Amino acid sequence: MATYSSNWIDELKNSVNIVQVIEQYLPLTKKGNRYSALCPFHTEKTPSFTVDEEHQYYKCFGCGKAGDVIEFVKEKEKLEFLDAVEFIANKFKIKMPEKQESAEITARKRDLENIYDANLIAARFYRDNLQKPAAKTALEYMYNRGFSDEVIAAFGVGCSLDYESLYNHLISKGIKEEVILKAALVNENKKGDFQAKRLVIPIIDAKDKVIGFSGRSLTSDMKPKYKNSRETLAFIKNQTLYNMNTIRHLRKEEDVKYLILVEGYMDVMALYEVGIKNVIASMGTSLTQNQCVAISKVVKQVYVCFDGDVAGQDATLRSLDLLSSEDVDVRVISIPDDMDPDDYVKNYGASSFEQLLIKAEPVTQFKIRKLKDSLDFSTIEGKPKFVKETIPILVKLDSITQSTYIDYVSQLSGVSKDIIINAISESKDNNLVKINKDIFIANRKKSVSDFDVDRGRLVIAAWLFAQFDLSIDEFISADMFKIEEQKIIAGRFLEEYRNNNRVIFKEIWPNEIEADEIRNELNKIYDKKDDWQNAYGIDTYKDAIRSLMLDYLQNLSDLLVRKIIETDNDEERNLYKEKLTKVLEYKTSRGL
Ligand code: UTP
Ligand code: MN
Repeated sequence: MATYSSNWIDELKNSVNIVQVIEQYLPLTKKGNRYSALCPFHTEKTPSFTVDEEHQYYKCFGCGKAGDVIEFVKEKEKLEFLDAVEFIANKFKIKMPEKQESAEITARKRDLENIYDANLIAARFYRDNLQKPAAKTALEYMYNRGFSDEVIAAFGVGCSLDYESLYNHLISKGIKEEVILKAALVNENKKGDFQAKRLVIPIIDAKDKVIGFSGRSLTSDMKPKYKNSRETLAFIKNQTLYNMNTIRHLRKEEDVKYLILVEGYMDVMALYEVGIKNVIASMGTSLTQNQCVAISKVVKQVYVCFDGDVAGQDATLRSLDLLSSEDVDVRVISIPDDMDPDDYVKNYGASSFEQLLIKAEPVTQFKIRKLKDSLDFSTIEGKPKFVKETIPILVKLDSITQSTYIDYVSQLSGVSKDIIINAISESKDNNLVKINKDIFIANRKKSVSDFDVDRGRLVIAAWLFAQFDLSIDEFISADMFKIEEQKIIAGRFLEEYRNNNRVIFKEIWPNEIEADEIRNELNKIYDKKDDWQNAYGIDTYKDAIRSLMLDYLQNLSDLLVRKIIETDNDEERNLYKEKLTKVLEYKTSRGL
């Protein structure tokens, strides 16, 4: 797997001197066998930050921050652990170890680097175009929207003037046609610029790589309004958030406490234009889990700003829940008169926008208000319908918050609190019955043996530490595992693996793992690391997988059979049948 061995990381730490690294960020004064300085992590007047050269360690006696050279770079550059390691290695020209990886992964990495190179050249090309006389319309378009040269430059905005030049330029810079196509910069057959004749906004990831582009049409008859690059190895839309690069740089300078999430690239730029820089945008779709996780690593508070037309849509509301479930406090900003943030700041300025932040509503309050607005309270049925529809929202709240919202719903509807409380408890019972039933079915055969628990650990440890090809096919599922902790761990692993074709242990399990049970289980999995590297081989893996699969596929086919019998929807039945056939075929092919 693509993680570095701890040996190599020790070697890296031995070959750089922490004093030299820290000195690049702040002046150090030698005092006896230590160095001291004003702490870079908090504001102070007398130095309490010390660097111990002998033990290669820093500590601030004021704020308590301490660590080794990697920790320091992580904090200063706002990088994740492994990125900090690479940063140091690059800076000090230390050769990274040859990673044990398949030829396929090596090839993918090379492709990826090539795509980044091509994208960067394309981005510079578009940017330079914008200053040419032929780009007058595009540049004036930006000026007319109130953008300054400074902001245009900060976001690398450019334009495409025609179909041919981009391809010719890339070729003249030595980029191979194969790479240009893999980067999806031109159309396959005629090699015409994919963003021809559009204003072009580069999409840059948190590590400052140009991963794709979005082209805005300059005339109302050119559709669509925004054309995003096709997905490539570098551009995976459901993992991308626009402007995370700015956020990382901002965090190096100040403590970014919250982010503002808007819908459009132009909204991000317009807010930047008036000095509000902690703004990101999704890629024109509702948030995915990956994006929520990325956000929660950076801040614990997000202000969401949706245009009026999408604010009440199911997908939007779900994405708010998704973000909240990553432990982020989410507030919803409502902009009056169906304006978007861009319109709003241009009309009323930055301080009015900041007033909207103060008035932002917690998600639950927002949902309840939206619900009320969508119903007609002047009819007899309006109010009871409203109360009924709030119940699923209320059920999910903790009891203290719930009681406040029961008051609120009661006030809005005139329905007494007792009745609402009753409705909540009835709905809870129903939910419990339903969930119990599902669990009963799933658990029918389940009495978990120690062997199964151990097999589960063995398999997950193999995924993380073994050196052979894992052959994880579509039937391998987190549900194969028999205990909840393993299901969760395997689920995260599989999601990461299937999205990125690689797993970095630290990325799926950052330091602050919440639940003790999971941490315990991870430790037990980790205990098998040496065995995988020294003793076990592929047969051990295959055997363990086989026996987990046996039960799982049996349960799955039982469940599908039941669903086929139970459903009264033909379309659903056909889907279940198709799935069952696939499962049975797979079982046979594997001799299970
Ligand atoms: P909007 O249509 O709300 O755009 O789309 P906007 O930001 O107000 O743009 P201007 O002000 O008219 O220039 C919001 C986002 O939805 C995606 C883009 O990500 C855009 O920033 N989108 C929109 C598309 O991907 N394609 C489209 O055709 C339109
Ligand atoms: Mn707009």
